Amino acid sequence: MAIDAVIPAAGIGRRMGSAVPKQYLQLAGKTVLQRTLEIFLNSPLISRVIVCLKEGDPYFDSLPVSRDPRLIRAPGGAERCDSVLAGLWCSEAEWVMVHDAARPCLTGGDLRLLAEEAISRDGGLLCAPVRDTMKRAGEDMLIQGTVDRNGLYHALTPQMFRRTELLQALEDAASRGLKVTDESSAMELAGCRPLAVAGRADNIKITSQGDLELAEFILEGHRRNGIV
Ligand code: C5P
Repeated sequence: MAIDAVIPAAGIGRRMGSAVPKQYLQLAGKTVLQRTLEIFLNSPLISRVIVCLKEGDPYFDSLPVSRDPRLIRAPGGAERCDSVLAGLWCSEAEWVMVHDAARPCLTGGDLRLLAEEAISRDGGLLCAPVRDTMKRAGEDMLIQGTVDRNGLYHALTPQMFRRTELLQALEDAASRGLKVTDESSAMELAGCRPLAVAGRADNIKITSQGDLELAEFILEGHRRNGIV
């Protein structure tokens, strides 16, 4: 079964507050994006890796991974969902896994788990159960109530769907003017019920400077414990 990876990497990472986009910051001796792309290029389950880059991106060509023959470049869009759409147009695979460039701590084990689970259903996504007590607050930051955390999950990536179904769902969402922040949302709007696959909570998305330090710690833990 052919699976392509689509890696949206066209964001500017405004919240990071660094001159260089966060996917090009150094993490344990390599850039974040190099690490993320290596996870997919090293997986025997993945046919091709499509990376969505901002127009005129001056950094990508200097990554060692940029010369890999299985890597394809797609143009990034204004929003993450536009970048993902551009990536999907470059694929011919039956299935696609979409994964944030900013999540370099994904393990090969979780990638395989998602592939196995999603392929036997109509697609799915890695999720982590919410651990803390959840509150809803108003704009005044006063608590309005407590949200039952039973059945609540963080939506992680990768998210895996049949390429043509995801393409259709994202195009439909775009034509309705809806800006979806993950692929599952588009599939849900199309009436599908993606499978939540319990993944590792340490598959974090790098958003702030502190996350880079945490990611370094997580990768070191994986290395020490032989987690791949
Ligand atoms: O900004 P955020 O962390 O939510 O972005 C998630 C992923 O989507 C990142 O890997 C980022 O590079 C990518 N992205 C993109 N095109 C955009 C905005 C974000 O490829 N226009």
